[in-house]
Amino acid sequence: MDLKIAVIGGDGIGPEVTAESVKVLDAIGRRYGHDFTWRTGEMGGCAIDKYGTPLPAETMDTILGCDAILFGAVGGPKWDDPRAKTRPEDGILRIRKELGLFANVRPIKVYPDLVGSSPLRPERLEGVDMVILRELTGGLYFGRPKKRWENARGRRAVDTLSYTEKEIERIVRVGFEMARNRRKKLTSVDKANVLETGRLWREITTELHHEYRDVELDHVLVDNAAMQLITNPAQFDVIVTENTFGDILSDEASVLSGSMGMLPSASLTSPPPKKGVRRRRGGKPALYEPIHGSAPDISGHGVANPVASLISSAFMLRWSFGLHEEADAIEKAIDAVMSEGFRTRDIADEGDKCIGTVQFGDMVASAVGG
Ligand code: IPM
Ligand code: MG
Repeated sequence: MDLKIAVIGGDGIGPEVTAESVKVLDAIGRRYGHDFTWRTGEMGGCAIDKYGTPLPAETMDTILGCDAILFGAVGGPKWDDPRAKTRPEDGILRIRKELGLFANVRPIKVYPDLVGSSPLRPERLEGVDMVILRELTGGLYFGRPKKRWENARGRRAVDTLSYTEKEIERIVRVGFEMARNRRKKLTSVDKANVLETGRLWREITTELHHEYRDVELDHVLVDNAAMQLITNPAQFDVIVTENTFGDILSDEASVLSGSMGMLPSASLTSPPPKKGVRRRRGGKPALYEPIHGSAPDISGHGVANPVASLISSAFMLRWSFGLHEEADAIEKAIDAVMSEGFRTRDIADEGDKCIGTVQFGDMVASAVGG
């Protein structure tokens, strides 16, 4: 296949980890006979510095001309001034919104080799295998009004939490579809005891359940869900929730896997296709990115963990291009490198062989065998 991929590294460790994905995908291309064409674009703080905007028109054009997007991370202390007119994060938010990437899939997996890296007791981690499905183009992130102002009584700011029936229905439907292909359990997380949007969310989810009787449905309040993610994480199969709750819960859940550096994500416009089913080409590109941020404290030191980005690129092969065997090959190569005891610093224990970002990528590329 001839595939055109936009590589948007962004800020901090973003470009460091996406470079390893490009390397490993090139190895996949050589082994399986695919031609990847790479198109790079700037986004985030680096684009603010150069063009005065986090998402220049050129970058958007590049993205729209590609079959999928491999994204790194944005942000950093340099652009953190709360009074700044524009922020690096605005770039990724606009891409999500303009491409209609409403379904953010964040699988949480515990690697048996890494159980020791998690602050949780090993017995709590047994059997943990869940997906957090986060609504990505609505809620507080995009609701209007959204502003700050000042009057005689002082400063004030407002964000708006708003959801339409259609927005809720389409994400919850993806949740039911995903649960149906897994352990058939869907947990819908809301704050229906306080929020109107939460009550609407719960009502629509309950109505949709009639179409998915084979899936067990639970409603859990978000505060309780936050607790249960730590006390009994193995109970969850698919968790579906609104934008802000999903942002918070997915960072919390990353602790289960030992490091934020291990967790990939995919932002899609429709449910991930089943094995053997090819997604139609020609639609808007989906976006694949680690759930971690730009980690300015470690950027430039060559120590970032590229695994989250590498697994995100495996998702891209599987979900955007239907290349299941190739995706499996990347995941197996990562497992092979880790089972030999090679680790980046964030997950290295005593006795492990601690290596850098580039070395890790090299080893995965050679394990893929291109
Ligand atoms: C994430 C990040 C983003 C978000 C930021 C960078 C805007 O935290 O993808 O989880 O809040 O969605
Ligand atoms: Mg986040």
